[in-house]
Amino acid sequence: MKVYRVPDYKTMSRLAANILSAQIISKPDSVLGLATGSTPEGTYAKLVQWYNNGDLDFSKIVTVNLDEYRGLSGDHNQSYKYFMHKHLFDKVNIDPANTYLPNGLAEDPQEEGKRYDRLIEDLGGVDIQLLGMGHNGHIGFNEPGTPFDIGTHCVDLHETTIQANQRFFDTYEDVPKQAYSMGIKTIMNARKILILVNGEDKAEILKKAFYGPVTPEVPASILQTHKDVILIADDAAMSKV
Ligand code: F6R
Repeated sequence: MKVYRVPDYKTMSRLAANILSAQIISKPDSVLGLATGSTPEGTYAKLVQWYNNGDLDFSKIVTVNLDEYRGLSGDHNQSYKYFMHKHLFDKVNIDPANTYLPNGLAEDPQEEGKRYDRLIEDLGGVDIQLLGMGHNGHIGFNEPGTPFDIGTHCVDLHETTIQANQRFFDTYEDVPKQAYSMGIKTIMNARKILILVNGEDKAEILKKAFYGPVTPEVPASILQTHKDVILIADDAAMSKV
């Protein structure tokens, strides 16, 4: 594992965008595995800036996202597809037909998981997977206790997550109760993994995930066993190491 300790979120985002840019330039038809959440927002903003400067071409790039809420259509403003369009896809010259996320409206959740893993395989696998990490060490929606050997699957969201999301929806009934997520197995199949962690609130879990034992109780700890992982973390997130 290669670790970059950087002073702040801005530096983390620029370095992550540098690494993704190198991938895009050296292999213009790369398959990028992407994440949502507040962690990668700054990285996407940098990529957009460099695209606007004429330094990046996304025309042959293919993307597969880590996760999506079950029950939401792609144009719902809380869907991850919407997030990706807002922060990246609508701002660069990527072909929307080359951007993939799990289908939140799929009828058969088991079939959807299998379809998504087959799709990734048919695309030739992920060249570089971008990840953030949750406060409990989750990656994607793989919460503590999730076995390491499963592919894309449908996850029951914790009641606390459902309640936290309630503010974005009119009624409790509208709040997604499930989500699709690449499994740890899917994530570990990526040829390269780039994980970003920032903020003091993630210092404790960063120490457990990358400097503690590998255990399903800390899903991100599995990354210690991947042959090509880059961790970029800011001083605040590294403060307990
Ligand atoms: C997002 C995802 C999640 C987030 C994690 C951290 O697609 O799969 O695992 O990466 O919850 O979220 P933020 O970046 O908002 O702290």
